[in-house]
Formats: sequence, C-alpha cells, structure tokens
Amino acid sequence: MEITVEAWRQADHHQVGRFETYRTEVTPEMSLLEVLDLLNEQLVADGIDPIAFDSDCREGICGACGITVNGRPHGPVPNTPSCLQHLNRFPELTHFRLEPLRANAFPVVRDLVVDRSALDRVIEAGGHVAVNAGQAADADAELIDHDTAETALDFAACIGCGACVAACPNGAAHLFAGAKLAHLSTLTYGAQERGRRARAIAGQLDHDFGPCSTFGECAQVCPADIDLSAVAAVNREALRVSFRRRST
Ligand code: FES
Repeated sequence: MEITVEAWRQADHHQVGRFETYRTEVTPEMSLLEVLDLLNEQLVADGIDPIAFDSDCREGICGACGITVNGRPHGPVPNTPSCLQHLNRFPELTHFRLEPLRANAFPVVRDLVVDRSALDRVIEAGGHVAVNAGQAADADAELIDHDTAETALDFAACIGCGACVAACPNGAAHLFAGAKLAHLSTLTYGAQERGRRARAIAGQLDHDFGPCSTFGECAQVCPADIDLSAVAAVNREALRVSFRRRST
C-alpha cells in the first residue's frame, strides 16, 4: 500500500526546521522504524540526505527510539514504543506526520533525533545507589518479600525513552523521576540515601523540566506502563525529606 510521510527535517538545533513530504510503498507488517529504513534507502538512491532517527534494540527495551507520530509520542498504539508500532495495528492510517519528541529539555540534534541528556542528569543526580552494597553474594543475605520486589521491578521497568516528557503539556519529567524514586526507595540499600536522592532529583527536575500538573498524558504513552503513582512518589519523597533533618 502507498503511504504519505511528512517528516520533520532540521539540520541541527540552531537551524530552522520544516516538514518534507514523501510517498512510499509499504507492507502492513512493517513497523514505523522499518518504514523509515525503507524511505531512507529511497532518499539515498535519489541523492537526498536520509532522515535521522534513533533506534537500538528495536524490541522495546533500550528506550533509544522515540518519535512523535501524528501528534502522539511513540505513535498511535498506547503504551508502545516507536520500534514496536506496526502499521497493521492502525490500518486506517495512510498519512504519517513524524516529528521529534517535542520538549524544551530535548533540543533537536537532527531531524527526528533529540538530545535527551537532561534525563541522564536526573540519573546522575540521584537515580542510582551510591552506598557500599557489598559483594554480589551479599545480595542474597538481604531478604526482600515478594510483593516489595515486584513493586520495585514494576518501577524499574522504565526505559528512559522520554515520551512522558514529550506528552506532558508542561514538559515535566515526574513520571520518569518518580519511577526511579519509587524503585530505589523501596529496596534496602537504596532506602539508605532516600533523603539525599529526593533532594537531588527534585533540584534537577526544577532545573531542566516543567512542573507536573497531574494531567496524566505521560502514563498514557509510557511503553513500560509506569502508572501515575510514580508521580505521587516525587511529591511523597519531597514531603518526607522536608520533615526530616537527617540526610536519609
Ligand atoms: S529501539 Fe530500543 S526501545 Fe525502541
């Protein structure tokens, strides 16, 4: 079938971007990224620069992919990364408007590629465990009940794609940050620096991202199904630390 692709073309952050329209023949089982691969082969054959976009695993694991499709981060299928958006899941669509993930915190690098290092700065600030956790064998000595482990794993599923930020009218990263806070504060070693982490992440959110107004669009696009309780974790951890003098 023939589809129309309107793709955002922008040489770099300092240049003005524009949409360019292309037509190509595809098959329904193709994913959006495979459509871009095919289109790029045609563009190169015609002597045109290929459309830059990010991808790595193409299995919904790494979070590298992320494009805005017809105004929706990742694409028409809810809670599914761009690499797993297949045309046969939305057969009525034959016109695709492809843009980068739009957010002030994500400057365009080129075409559909954005710089998501603002998310890395959140992780550097507090999305890690910095206490001495001993050797690998010591992990087995820490008994964690099943429900707690499952809760931590649910929040650890965040792949850091940034779609939540692009979906938010305020450009907030509370779903992303809350997933880290809820994940790490649930577990034994992570809980030891809970206060320091909450302060550091809150400061980084204020620096790079907008405020959360609990609209909920973030959870609707999240490919890891992180729910809005992660947003509550940001506020809960900030409130908790405001009542405590010690760093934990
Ligand atoms: S390319 Fe890895 S999640 Fe899409």
